Order: sequence, then structure tokens, then C-alpha cells
Amino acid sequence: MAGDLLLLLAALLLAMPAFGQAEDSLPGYSQYGAEQCLWCHAGAADAHLMDLFQGPHAVRGDPRSPFGAEQLQCEACHGPGGDHAGPIVAGRERPAMPAFGPNALWSNDRQNEMCTACHLEQGHRFWDGSEHQRAELSCADCHESHARRDPMNLATSQNAVCMDCHITQRSQSQRAYAHPVRHGEMACSDCHAAHGSINDAMLTDLNINQNCYTCHADKRGPHLWEHAPVAEDCTHCHQPHGSNHPGMLTRRAPLLCQSCHGRESHVGIGITGDGLPDNNPSNLLLLDSCMNCHTQVHGSNHPSGRALAR
Ligand code: HEC
Ligand code: HEC
Ligand code: HEC
Ligand code: HEC
Ligand code: HEC
Ligand code: HEC
Ligand code: HEC
Ligand code: HEC
Ligand code: HEC
Ligand code: HEC
Repeated sequence: MAGDLLLLLAALLLAMPAFGQAEDSLPGYSQYGAEQCLWCHAGAADAHLMDLFQGPHAVRGDPRSPFGAEQLQCEACHGPGGDHAGPIVAGRERPAMPAFGPNALWSNDRQNEMCTACHLEQGHRFWDGSEHQRAELSCADCHESHARRDPMNLATSQNAVCMDCHITQRSQSQRAYAHPVRHGEMACSDCHAAHGSINDAMLTDLNINQNCYTCHADKRGPHLWEHAPVAEDCTHCHQPHGSNHPGMLTRRAPLLCQSCHGRESHVGIGITGDGLPDNNPSNLLLLDSCMNCHTQVHGSNHPSGRALAR
């Protein structure tokens, strides 16, 4: 009889779900929520995690927040704690958490689903199929959920994160003539949609020129005398991330202009009769080169501005 009781007890113990799972909690999720995590994660080594409670994710009064009523707290992002959050058992290795952290068990896409479960818009509009999603970036490669202020909110910290991976753009932005990105007066996200877009190069606007016009509206036209390449694509002449030539030009005039204009423009100014660059160019090209006369290189509205000279 006593033996039977012991067996029954043992069977009950074995049949019981792992530590921390009460019958009314979801399978695998910890019974005591964040409190249970903090049994082990409240030490000095984890002090940097506690800024979470000053950020937008721990607003108890907001039912949408991971810490709102009915929400799963830490596990809303990290996935079910399961045996990870169980008691220390000598000789047994503690499994890693499913999502987020250096040893996370799940694929990046599955981890990201933890975030997009709440952030539907960021998840479903353009993220799927974007360069970043296909390159298997995690939301956490750019965002810091445990920070008081997310680095993406501030131009300086955002640019630094982007440039950690995009070293070409980092070096271009250090060049003599560049958008004020390195000073944090402008953010990569002024031109790019980090979550993806239907446009080339994940631009925020339909095409390059539309993007430039948002800030350089004076270049939009329409002009009475248009300069065809301007209306077509600003990057025919400008390098948007920075260049060593004044005005962020892709190269200096007259070479810039002569990459398209050969002999049909006036022979003798910067170009020889054979159509080759003149090694002793006319002093008409000193200072502003072709723009000495063609001052309205972006287009002219002057009745006699056909040659973009006024
Ligand atoms: C009984 C102690 C204990 C509890 C409870 C616990 N953890 Fe841990 N956790 C640890 C230890 C120890 C490590 C370090 C493991 C290592 O470095 O291998 C760790 C590491 C982690 C990591 C980093 C994992 C990685 O990829 O290396 C995350 C994320 C984490 N815990 C989240 C949680 C969450 C969320 C909870 C609550 C659901 C929780 N932990 C509950 C002890 C615990
Ligand atoms: C809003 C989502 C979110 C919530 C809520 C959240 N975390 Fe995290 N946590 C993350 C992300 C994302 C990372 C990965 C950070 C990284 O990759 O730099 C992380 C990393 C960690 C790590 C390991 C990395 C490290 O720096 O040590 C631990 C441990 C951890 N979280 C514990 C917790 C605990 C405990 C809670 C609840 C008090 C919690 N997290 C709540 C998103 C969250
Ligand atoms: C349980 C729902 C929930 C989950 C899971 C969640 N978030 Fe949030 N998140 C919120 C809410 C609510 C806000 C506050 C939004 C507001 O105030 O409009 C927020 C705000 C943010 C913000 C804006 C931060 C700011 O300072 O403006 C970012 C970025 C963000 N979350 C990223 C993430 C990432 C990355 C993950 C996954 C690691 C994640 N979230 C997981 C609910 C969630
Ligand atoms: C390549 C970096 C990068 C990645 C990866 C990334 N984000 Fe963002 N996220 C940003 C930037 C930059 C902003 C702020 C500027 C903006 O609105 O575009 C932002 C803003 C947000 C915001 C604040 C609200 C908003 O839309 O302005 C939320 C929420 C958010 N991201 C969620 C996510 C989620 C969820 C994922 C993963 C599916 C993710 N992000 C992946 C860079 C990133
Ligand atoms: C003034 C607008 C602007 C800013 C600010 C800007 N970009 Fe760009 N970016 C563009 C345009 C336009 C293109 C497409 C034309 C091109 O490749 O030259 C582009 C292309 C790119 C490409 C794709 C390059 C390729 O060869 O396919 C990457 C990567 C990129 N940008 C990263 C960044 C990063 C990182 C930042 C912030 C440090 C940044 N950009 C800031 C306008 C901008
Ligand atoms: C963890 C690394 C990482 C971070 C952080 C990162 N990117 Fe990227 N990005 C990539 C990878 C990988 C690609 C895929 C193409 C490639 O190899 O350049 C990419 C592609 C791009 C492209 C080119 C899209 C195209 O159509 O060619 C742009 C633009 C871009 N990223 C902008 C940004 C911006 C803006 C940020 C910061 C908000 C950022 N990235 C942060 C890794 C990163
Ligand atoms: C978000 C606003 C913004 C967008 C979008 C933008 N610019 Fe700019 N641009 C600026 C600012 C700010 C400056 C710096 C003005 C200053 O220093 O007085 C600038 C300066 C320039 C300069 C002059 C640089 C110099 O050294 O004189 C050129 C050329 C330029 N931008 C071209 C472009 C092109 C091409 C695009 C589209 C790919 C573009 N910009 C998109 C804000 C923008
Ligand atoms: C055919 C070559 C060419 C194209 C295409 C071009 N630019 Fe320029 N841009 C120049 C030259 C050359 C300068 C320097 C002007 C000078 O030195 O007088 C300049 C200067 C600028 C400047 C700084 C000085 C100023 O006038 O404000 C801005 C801003 C600018 N361009 C924006 C744009 C935008 C936006 C586009 C696309 C709509 C564009 N450019 C297309 C050749 C071009
Ligand atoms: C990407 C090629 C390209 C570049 C670079 C370029 N142009 Fe042009 N330019 C054109 C085209 C195309 C036309 C229109 C030609 C036509 O209508 O026959 C044009 C027209 C002109 C005209 C007016 C000609 C006329 O018949 O009305 C002038 C002047 C001119 N460009 C000067 C310049 C100068 C100065 C530069 C250097 C700052 C320059 N272009 C750079 C392609 C270019
Ligand atoms: C001294 C002033 C001056 C300089 C410097 C100058 N141009 Fe001109 N250019 C003119 C004038 C004036 C016209 C108009 C001629 C006409 O209407 O018949 C013109 C016409 C043109 C045309 C239109 C030709 C046509 O068939 O209608 C092009 C293209 C052109 N220039 C390109 C250039 C380039 C490229 C440079 C630099 C290498 C340059 N110009 C330097 C004064 C100049």
C-alpha cells in the first residue's frame, strides 16, 4: 500500500510538466513571468538589461506592451523559457532561449516573428523580400530592445549602426564633400527605408530624383530649358554618399561634362579637334570650368537660356 503510494507519487512527478509550468499557463512559458527570469537575471552582470523598464516595452498600463496585462513579459520577445528557466540541476546543461541572445535557438525569420507579432506594419508591408530580410538580418541587428532609447531614433546612433555593416558608405561619408550624415544632421533613413520598400536601393521615394526633390525642391523644374540628365537621374553627376569633388560630383568638370558631350559642343574649349580631352585647355575653363558660362547646369527658365548659360 505504502509502496503503491510512492509509485503513484513518482508517476505524478514524472507526468508533471517541467518546472514552472502551471496548468493555466501556456506550454513552455514560465509560471511567474518576468519575476522568474529575474531570479537569475537581476545580478550585476545583467544590469544593462534593466533599461528595458525605462523604455517603451515595459509600460504596464499599455495593453499592447509586453508588460501589459495578459502579455507574456520577457517571453513575449524571447519565446517560452521552458527548461532554460527551470531549476539548476547538477550535470544538466541549461538550454539557450528560443529567441534573441548570442545562442538563440530559432532562425532569424522565426525570431523576427516575435517582434512582428506586435509590429504588424513593420513586418508585413515591405520587410518580407527586402534586401535586409533576404540577407537574414534580425530586427535586433538594428534595434536595441533593452536600451532606454532605441538607437534608430537618433541620427547619430542610427548612422553608426548602419555604417557598421555598410563600410563603403561610411568611407564615402568621410569624404570632403558629403551630406552631413557623419555629423548626425541627417540620417540614412532620410533617404532609405530600412524595413524595405518597393523602390530601387530601398529608397523612401519612388525614384532617386523624387528623393532628392524632397529637400532640393529648387532643382525640380519644370524648366523652360531642361538639361536632360538632370530630369533623368541626379546621380549621373552626383554621388549621394559623398565625393572628393566639390558639389559631391562624381568627377570634376570638364571631364564630367565631356563624359557625355564630345565634339558637338564647341571644339577648342577643353576638347581638341580630334574629340580628345585637351591637355592645355583654354583658360576659359579656369575656376568653374564649363560652368563659367553654363551657369544653369540644372536647367534654365530664361527665354534665351537654351545653352543653360543664363
Ligand atoms: C535558474 C536561472 C535562470 C532563469 C530562471 C532564467 N535564466 Fe536566462 N540564463 C541563465 C544563465 C545562467 C544564462 C547564461 C547561460 C550561458 O551563458 O550559457 C542565461 C542566459 C540567458 C539568455 C542569453 C542566452 C544566450 O543566447 O546565450 C537569455 C536571452 C535569457 N537567459 C533569458 C531568460 C529569460 C527571458 C528568462 C525567463 C523566462 C530566463 N532567462 C530565466 C539563467 C537563468
Ligand atoms: C521587446 C522585446 C524584449 C523584451 C520584452 C525582453 N527582451 Fe531580452 N532581449 C531582447 C533582444 C532583441 C535581445 C538581443 C540583444 C542583442 O542581440 O543585442 C535581448 C537580449 C537579452 C539577453 C542576453 C543578451 C545580453 O546582453 O546579456 C538576456 C539575458 C535578456 N535579453 C533577458 C531578458 C529578460 C530577463 C527580460 C524580462 C525582464 C527581457 N529580456 C525582455 C528583446 C527583449
Ligand atoms: C507584446 C507586443 C510587443 C512585442 C513582442 C514587441 N514590441 Fe516593440 N513595441 C510595442 C509597443 C506597445 C511599443 C510602443 C509603441 C507606441 O508607443 O506607439 C513598442 C515600441 C517599439 C519601438 C519604438 C521604440 C521607440 O523608442 O520609439 C521599436 C523600435 C520596437 N518596439 C521594436 C521591437 C522589436 C525589435 C521587437 C522584437 C525584439 C519588439 N519591438 C517586440 C510592443 C511590442
Ligand atoms: C537595417 C536596420 C533595421 C532593421 C533590420 C529593422 N529596423 Fe525597425 N527601424 C529602423 C529605423 C532606421 C527606424 C526609424 C526610422 C524609420 O521609421 O524608418 C526603425 C523604426 C522601427 C519602429 C518604430 C516605428 C516606425 O516604424 O517608425 C519599429 C516598431 C520597428 N522599427 C520595428 C522593427 C521590426 C519589428 C523589425 C524586424 C522585422 C525591424 N524594425 C528591423 C531600422 C531597422
Ligand atoms: C541623400 C540621400 C541618401 C542618404 C542620406 C543615404 N543614401 Fe544610400 N543611397 C542613396 C541613393 C540615391 C542610392 C542609389 C544610387 C546609388 O547607388 O548611388 C543609395 C544607395 C545605397 C546603397 C546601395 C548601394 C549599391 O551599390 O547598391 C546602400 C547600401 C546605401 N545607400 C546605404 C546607405 C547608408 C548606410 C546610409 C547612411 C550612412 C545612406 N545610404 C545614406 C541615397 C542616400
Ligand atoms: C547587420 C548588418 C547590416 C546593418 C546593421 C544594416 N545593413 Fe543594410 N544591408 C546589409 C546587407 C547584408 C545587405 C544586402 C546587400 C549587400 O550585401 O549590401 C544590405 C542592403 C542594404 C541596402 C541596399 C538595398 C539594395 O536594394 O541594394 C541599403 C540601402 C541598406 N542596406 C541600408 C541600410 C540602412 C539605412 C541601415 C541602417 C538603418 C542598414 N542598412 C543597416 C546589412 C546591414
Ligand atoms: C533629407 C534632406 C535631403 C535629401 C533627401 C537630399 N539632400 Fe542633398 N543636401 C541636404 C543638406 C542638408 C545639404 C547640406 C546643405 C549645406 O551644407 O548647406 C545637402 C547638400 C547637397 C549638395 C551640395 C553639397 C556641397 O558640397 O555643396 C548636393 C550636390 C546634394 N545635396 C545633392 C543631393 C542629391 C543628388 C540628392 C538625392 C540623391 C539629395 N541631395 C537628397 C539635404 C538633402
Ligand atoms: C549634368 C550634371 C548634373 C546633374 C544631372 C545634376 N547636377 Fe547638381 N550640380 C551639378 C554641378 C556641375 C554642380 C556644381 C554647380 C556649380 O559649381 O556651380 C551642381 C550642384 C548641385 C547642388 C549644390 C549647389 C546648388 O546649386 O544648390 C545641389 C544641391 C545639386 N547640384 C542638386 C542636384 C539635384 C537634386 C539633381 C537632380 C535633380 C542634380 N543636382 C543633378 C551638376 C549636375
Ligand atoms: C549624363 C550625360 C550628360 C552629362 C554628364 C552632361 N550633359 Fe549636358 N546634356 C546632355 C544631354 C542628353 C543633353 C540634351 C542634348 C540635346 O537635346 O541634344 C544635354 C544638353 C546640354 C546643353 C544644352 C545643349 C542644347 O543644345 O540646348 C548644355 C549647354 C549642356 N548640356 C552642358 C553641360 C555641362 C556644362 C555639363 C557638365 C556640368 C553637362 N552638360 C553634363 C547630357 C549630359
Ligand atoms: C566661354 C563660355 C563657354 C564655356 C567656357 C563653355 N561653353 Fe559651351 N557654349 C557656350 C555658348 C555661348 C554656347 C551657345 C552657342 C550657341 O548657342 O550657338 C555653348 C553651347 C554649348 C553646347 C550646346 C552646343 C549646341 O550644339 O548647341 C554644349 C553641349 C556645350 N556648350 C557644352 C560645353 C562644355 C561641355 C563645356 C566645358 C568643356 C563648355 N560648353 C564650356 C559658351 C561656353
